[in-house]
Amino acid sequence: MISAEEAKRLAKKNLSAKRYQHTCNVKKLAVELAKRNGADEKKAALAALLHDIAKELPRTELLQIFTDNAIIADNIAQRAAPVWHGVAAAILAQTKYGIEDAEILSAIRCHTTGKAGMSTLDKIIYMADMASAERDYPEAELLRRHALENLDKATVEGLGMSIAWLKAENRPVDPETIEAYADLRKSIYGGRKIE
Ligand SMILES: [Fe+2]
Ligand SMILES: [Fe+2]
Repeated sequence: MISAEEAKRLAKKNLSAKRYQHTCNVKKLAVELAKRNGADEKKAALAALLHDIAKELPRTELLQIFTDNAIIADNIAQRAAPVWHGVAAAILAQTKYGIEDAEILSAIRCHTTGKAGMSTLDKIIYMADMASAERDYPEAELLRRHALENLDKATVEGLGMSIAWLKAENRPVDPETIEAYADLRKSIYGGRKIE
């Protein structure tokens, strides 16, 4: 498995300066969230540093990665293109960078969508990505504060916002996001499953 230093070098090499800065900010927030929620800080750092590693790859290259790793890719090419890069990053982390840790791979894979039954590390990377320091949409600062205060509730809030934004723009909501929201909402607030 590669070290955090190597992962950082890879991010710098593969990403634009802007996205590299985003990645460093995600890492910083992810480590802080790990500290506050009793999660493994090293895993959080590594997942954060690699989460967007495939974000700037051309579409053809992403599709090739999915074809070459069809079982792990699990028909991702049939889902909306914006969610591809997380799955591609997890595949690269596993096959190219020797990361075998299932928690790290899952957190990278679902960082754009969430999923049903999110682990603490999944939530950390999802929220660190959504509320990283350079994010400047109107709700970002409040969401960042909520993430630091209560990771579970902030993740429900973040998933809900993401669904609302996509719907407002008439863009498809990934089924995994709907499942993540319904599942986490139910586990925190109880009550019936919201479809
Ligand atoms: Fe991403
Ligand atoms: Fe990101």
